[in-house]
Amino acid sequence: ALTEKDLQILPENGIDPENPGKYADLLKDLQGNILRGHGRDSSVHLFLQFKPGQVQELKKWIKVFANKITSAQKQADEAKLYRDKKIAGDPFVNFFLTRKGYEYLEFKPFQIPGDQPFRFGMKNDTIRKLLGDPVVEKWDPGLQEEIHALLLIADDNVVSLLQTVNKITRELYRLAQVVHREDGFILKNEQGEHIEHFGFVDGISQPLFLKRDIERAKSKTFNKKWEGSKWDSRAPLSLVLVKDPNGKSEDSYGSYLVCRKLEQDVKAFIDTEEYLADLAKDKESGLPLESGLQIKGDVELGAALMMGRFRDGTPLTMKGSELRRTELPDDTKAGEFDDFNYDNDTQGLKCPFHTHVRKTNPRGDTGRVDSSGDTPEEALEKERNHRIARRAVSYGVDYQSLPDGKKWGQKGFKPPVTDSGLFFLCFQADIANQFNFMQSAWANANNFVQVNVGVDPIIGQTQPGDGRADEATGNRTQKYPIAWGSETTKTICNFNLWVHFKGGEYFFAPSISSLKNII
Ligand code: HEM
Repeated sequence: ALTEKDLQILPENGIDPENPGKYADLLKDLQGNILRGHGRDSSVHLFLQFKPGQVQELKKWIKVFANKITSAQKQADEAKLYRDKKIAGDPFVNFFLTRKGYEYLEFKPFQIPGDQPFRFGMKNDTIRKLLGDPVVEKWDPGLQEEIHALLLIADDNVVSLLQTVNKITRELYRLAQVVHREDGFILKNEQGEHIEHFGFVDGISQPLFLKRDIERAKSKTFNKKWEGSKWDSRAPLSLVLVKDPNGKSEDSYGSYLVCRKLEQDVKAFIDTEEYLADLAKDKESGLPLESGLQIKGDVELGAALMMGRFRDGTPLTMKGSELRRTELPDDTKAGEFDDFNYDNDTQGLKCPFHTHVRKTNPRGDTGRVDSSGDTPEEALEKERNHRIARRAVSYGVDYQSLPDGKKWGQKGFKPPVTDSGLFFLCFQADIANQFNFMQSAWANANNFVQVNVGVDPIIGQTQPGDGRADEATGNRTQKYPIAWGSETTKTICNFNLWVHFKGGEYFFAPSISSLKNII
């Protein structure tokens, strides 16, 4: 069996599913998508509410269905087969349960995974207030319902995906109601890179566990070594895995999944970047509004001042001009680059402290401002324990599939206002210390990582009465350097937020053996 130490210390070069050694049992019993994203282009997410009086029938169904769930090992084997021989694998399948799902299936309290937010559920008032989420009545109707399980089915081939989904929904017809369905896809820019709806390359910075991912990331660091690099993306298994109380092997592990539907108002976001770039015109005079920054109409810089990376992925802290690719290591695309920290920008004058990537991964900032008495190394270690494994996909309009589809940046591109966004998913071992902490103590906080830097302009949430927004207007205050690297800052008081929470839930990804042996 794996020891505590195996969980806490990743082998130097990561875990190699082609040669798993002592990790073999773990990888066979663990669901896929946790240690690395499933990578399929299209996915369907079915939120299930089990029907009353079907406990035994459901257990029978789960036992059989468990054979279809993609293990971490199978995910890696199929990926290799695809790389070597271009043979496509089976549909990718995940199965997750909520606390209420476990209870419905008559698990005893001690058999139900113990994480506290997981036990409370996302609709719980304390959790909702902590995260700054709107009242449940404002969520998407299906997500307001009691949810017992989530099925994730993913495939590169949409026809085969829909066939699988139809087959599963027919099987479940008498047993469960699909209270909400979310179809996800990978949005791509003109270069074929994976982006989100605001147009930024996404999924760059991730905690890494597997050998291939680690080798690849290492080759993109400046000196092709971890030693001396600015950011080490490796992470121990304990960041995402916990023992499954119902697993049948000694190496049966699971992970907590946070799921949040986040609508993006892309039009308003683009208006804001133009506004920040001093482009927004006064309706009557046609003159630029004075409230913008002195960045000479550089809308891309306006956007980066909110995200912390440019749309192509270049970290804002490294370059503030069009020449920004030049500082990257050889052959590295900006959208793959992660070997940076904020040591060269300790005052947040290049990359403001409020930017989304700096808020959600301060890369050592807390060691510089922390009054807790931690050494910089200790502070960094604590920060790194808050990391999450992000597995989000986009939902809503897929520009590429529209007959007259205009991709990001193309003339005539019509940015969506509602009904498109990020179906945010992330795995972790401890929800309170990871996702909840990141959202509440970092993104939503006006005073992280310094006093009055403002909330994260991408995902920060404020609610009336929480003191983070102007009571009368609901507007938030953001502080920006007036130009890249400038020591003069400008406070913008009428900043609004363009990501709207539409509902979500906490789940557990049980080990496959616990589902095959459910009694
Ligand atoms: C990074 C967009 C929601 C946590 C990023 C990046 C983009 C992005 C473009 C930079 C690319 C990368 O490093 O992968 C968005 C959008 C969101 C959203 C548009 C909502 C609609 C969230 C949420 C969280 C989160 C809810 C967690 C509370 C992170 C983290 C990183 C990141 C941890 C990596 C930062 C780093 O290591 O440098 N996001 N994100 N994001 N995001 Fe988000």
